[in-house]
Amino acid sequence: MTEIQTRARTAEGLLPASGSTGHEWWRTAVIYQVYPRSFADSNGDGVGDLPGITTHLPALQELGVDAVWLSPFMTSPQRDAGYDVADYCDVDPLFGTLDDFDRMLEAAHALGLRVIVDLVPNHTSSDHRWFQEALASAEGSEARSHYWFRDGKGENGELPPNNWESVFGGPAWTRTTNAAGTPGQWYLHLFDSSQPDLNWESPWVWEQFRGILRFWLDRGVDGFRIDVAHGMVKAKGLPDYTPEQRGGSLSGASVTLEPDISDEEPGSPMWAQEGGHAIFRDWHKVLAEYDGDRALCGEAWVSPPSKLARYVRSDEMQQTFNFTYLETPWNPDALRDVIAESLAAFNGVGAPSTWVLSNHDVIRHPTRFGLMDGSPQGHGIGPKTPYRPNKALGLQRARAATTVMLALPGSAYLYQGEELGLPEVIDLPDSARQDPTWFRTGGERYGRDGCRVPIPWTASGPSYGFSDSGKSWLPQPSEWATMARDVESDEPDSTLSLYKLLLAEREERSLGGGTLEWLEGYGDDVVAFRNGDVTVLANLGRASVPLPAGEVVLSSEQLDGDELPTDTAVWFSD
Ligand code: NOJ
Repeated sequence: MTEIQTRARTAEGLLPASGSTGHEWWRTAVIYQVYPRSFADSNGDGVGDLPGITTHLPALQELGVDAVWLSPFMTSPQRDAGYDVADYCDVDPLFGTLDDFDRMLEAAHALGLRVIVDLVPNHTSSDHRWFQEALASAEGSEARSHYWFRDGKGENGELPPNNWESVFGGPAWTRTTNAAGTPGQWYLHLFDSSQPDLNWESPWVWEQFRGILRFWLDRGVDGFRIDVAHGMVKAKGLPDYTPEQRGGSLSGASVTLEPDISDEEPGSPMWAQEGGHAIFRDWHKVLAEYDGDRALCGEAWVSPPSKLARYVRSDEMQQTFNFTYLETPWNPDALRDVIAESLAAFNGVGAPSTWVLSNHDVIRHPTRFGLMDGSPQGHGIGPKTPYRPNKALGLQRARAATTVMLALPGSAYLYQGEELGLPEVIDLPDSARQDPTWFRTGGERYGRDGCRVPIPWTASGPSYGFSDSGKSWLPQPSEWATMARDVESDEPDSTLSLYKLLLAEREERSLGGGTLEWLEGYGDDVVAFRNGDVTVLANLGRASVPLPAGEVVLSSEQLDGDELPTDTAVWFSD
């Protein structure tokens, strides 16, 4: 196997000089998601922060990623872990200060790492001054027009304005109380009641967000991940909606955090509205005012890929997460299909496909691939759910899946901790849980805390190196000791060593900018393709298959003899 090399990259080497254009780094980049709460804590309060990220950036450079995406660190009451923003242009004291942000950005750029920040434009926090002003203003006022305030139905307005449900469970409407103490209008929130939806029919809202984009672009960020990009515009008149295949529940029977939208299910009034695309065209122009190929990546739970690709037409966003890929089961036909469909759809609009297996909203993929009975995505798993993963199998499949993913042309996203092979933490105590989904469903759905547990840096020491104080906002399991970065750094067969090797070889062989060619003749269970000088084989079947002749570049498991074992992937070179 090839020796793992740490790539020494200088800012000059990776980041083009300011003013240059045409590099379009985002077409091929591997982007690492930092979930700031759980990455590294510098001040001992048990919550990760910006200085903690700065300290550990060299570890990400050593891993070999091109960029980091930071989940929200802006001012927020943290009712949805920062996806409830109360001031878009400041840092929450929990995470540090704007100066800390600037230092982190400078350090990242000096290491050759680009930085993408999270923008949450579908809703604000209910603590945001815009919403507080709206609450204090009269019905029909300009301030109220920035959100969705509506009279209730029923004789005394006691019923919500429509039947929409919150993605986190329960109704998507909350009734306000007037200054006199009498019941008032209702406001819309597709998520928690502390996250009122903005009204993107208001030109004022458009103007505010242009300013917010410029605020961060002026500071030097390389782009934005756009939260709920498919939900910002609602159908005129906010009509009732009862999706048939979900038994009348928008979120109840859905298997994803946010319901899939497909061409087969037209008519959803809150997701994937045509009007949303005008916003991205407007933002595209704002980014184009800046040098350095700044990029937008949309979080749009939209399928199939042909529909998703509409978000990355040449005058809209640069990238969008490929959640259809994330949701693909460990099945050779399904994997071949989603890769082919994605490449065709994104190529069709001149955009790179993206690939992703984990993030802070879904069950970590080593656990997901070890669940034999399907995975209750978005609902989470916990002590009382029947799902019990086969851990060893899940990790083996996850390593093979990543070995396939990082050979694909386009851009790939990694979620912090997946390079260590971390599983979902299933047995968090009820008292520790913080996801609003858990509270809004009365504990019926566990939600996403299990993929958000602070990550281990060291096998020993307080909170496995996450915080010197030993505190951790979610309790860490004892198995973190065996999966800590310092342990895995020393083990040639560890998941961390595999990721480093994959990323080094991907860059060395320019696979991100390559072209995929399917290969025949390896049997139905083997996903086989070629990209550049690399041939990739992944055995998703139940029996070993013969290994062809050739030089093995790397493999997801140690190869013993001339067979490719099941649930294993390998890269060959000519
Ligand atoms: C998607 C984010 O990834 C998720 O964490 C958040 O809860 C919702 N959007 C609402 O902002």
